[in-house]
Amino acid sequence: MSRFHEPPDPAFQRLNASIGFDRRLWPQDVAQSRAHARMLADRGIISGQDRDALLGGLDAVERELSDGVFPFEDGDEDIHMAIERRLTELVGAVGGRLHTARSRNDQVVTDLAMYVRSRSAEAREAITGLMAALLARAEEHLDWPMPGYTHLQRAQPVYLGHHLLAYFWMLSRDRSRFAFAEDQAGWLPLGAGALAGVNFDTDRGLLARELGFPAVAPNSIDAVSGRDFILDYLNAAATCSTHLSRLGAELVLWSSAEFGFCELPDAWSSGSSIMPQKKNPDAAELLRAKAPRVVAHLAAFHGVLHALPLTYNKDLQEDKEHVFDAGDTLEMTLAAATGMIAGVSFNGQRLRDAAADELIAATDIADLLVRLGVPFREAHGVVAGLVRTALDGGRSLSELTREELAAHSAMLAEHSEEYDAVLAQESWLESKLSEGGTSLARVREQAAKAHAVLDEDPPA
Ligand code: ARG
Repeated sequence: MSRFHEPPDPAFQRLNASIGFDRRLWPQDVAQSRAHARMLADRGIISGQDRDALLGGLDAVERELSDGVFPFEDGDEDIHMAIERRLTELVGAVGGRLHTARSRNDQVVTDLAMYVRSRSAEAREAITGLMAALLARAEEHLDWPMPGYTHLQRAQPVYLGHHLLAYFWMLSRDRSRFAFAEDQAGWLPLGAGALAGVNFDTDRGLLARELGFPAVAPNSIDAVSGRDFILDYLNAAATCSTHLSRLGAELVLWSSAEFGFCELPDAWSSGSSIMPQKKNPDAAELLRAKAPRVVAHLAAFHGVLHALPLTYNKDLQEDKEHVFDAGDTLEMTLAAATGMIAGVSFNGQRLRDAAADELIAATDIADLLVRLGVPFREAHGVVAGLVRTALDGGRSLSELTREELAAHSAMLAEHSEEYDAVLAQESWLESKLSEGGTSLARVREQAAKAHAVLDEDPPA
């Protein structure tokens, strides 16, 4: 029997159905149904015989799904109904007992929470792989000088190891964000029923233990309405993607002839269909361009949740594709970033030459004046004048005469040996001795911290 007098409009069916995308939740759906059937029997809500029939049927359904021979039908609205329909075909009317004390409202959000928990763990593992690659390459290039940039203008020299480790720390925070998302998805919704709880004395603690949830959601209304764990997951994915986009952008720049700082591995580059000499950094470009797509999933799902009255609304069906695409995209881009970092080769000569640009030591000259007692702001002005004199005359700072120095600062002229020493290239990097700075001792100290962090992947 149905309460309706006419069948659904085919266009409504297309709009309403989620089977096209939520079928990938089948492993979670089968697992939670198994746990649910066991719990129902444990509490005497169904018989042991019915439980065994249901578990046997779920095994058969699972085999069909994993072998790709599950007979989906046009009328299957979503994965939950498809599995229940098939189960009933296979085991008979007892199949209808599985949905006792359960609603699709608590069922679907339980699938999603399980999915987000496992996808977050996968993301953490992939991020750890990229962090390990960055740390290894940083240690290989610990003392390779290169220019550090601000505004994409050469600013102060740094070691390549230091620059690579900057990404290590961003990613370690991303990893923590995924651990947080995994945590937030750790409140078991199952057992909330449609919204108010169910008319049976169920054991939700048993379900939680069996499905690996640390705790039971304490409020049935919140349990079926809440999707903030999805926002947390999408946020982690969006921030991580944005970090990868910055790495991608630098690889694109650095592999250009203009920079010539690195060559990307062939396995992560493309040829041109018309210009045979070209090697294009497509993968690095896509790291840049995939990020806004993941960020858009976060923004879009905020839109779905915004001002949505409690409890379940069909709007919530629109959570899945955002989660799936964000996860798939991130998995691909993390693999690409890891492959490129592991295989990139750096051009030490080009990096060193670019870092040897004397103007890059301007701040160090100012600091010399500071050590001689000049207030920093005044010293900054003196050096700006020196730079201008040098540039106007087409010379470098070390080519200025003592008289020219004296014209800007008598004190500097008096200390011209120290001036020359500061301009002797090696000192620019090693003078950055503050904690977290680029001097070799500090970068070594940092690499040791990075090893400790790498090994202690934060437990979710
Ligand atoms: N396909 C639905 C979704 O993804 C499952 C829950 C449907 N619940 C309902 N009361 N119609 O959200």
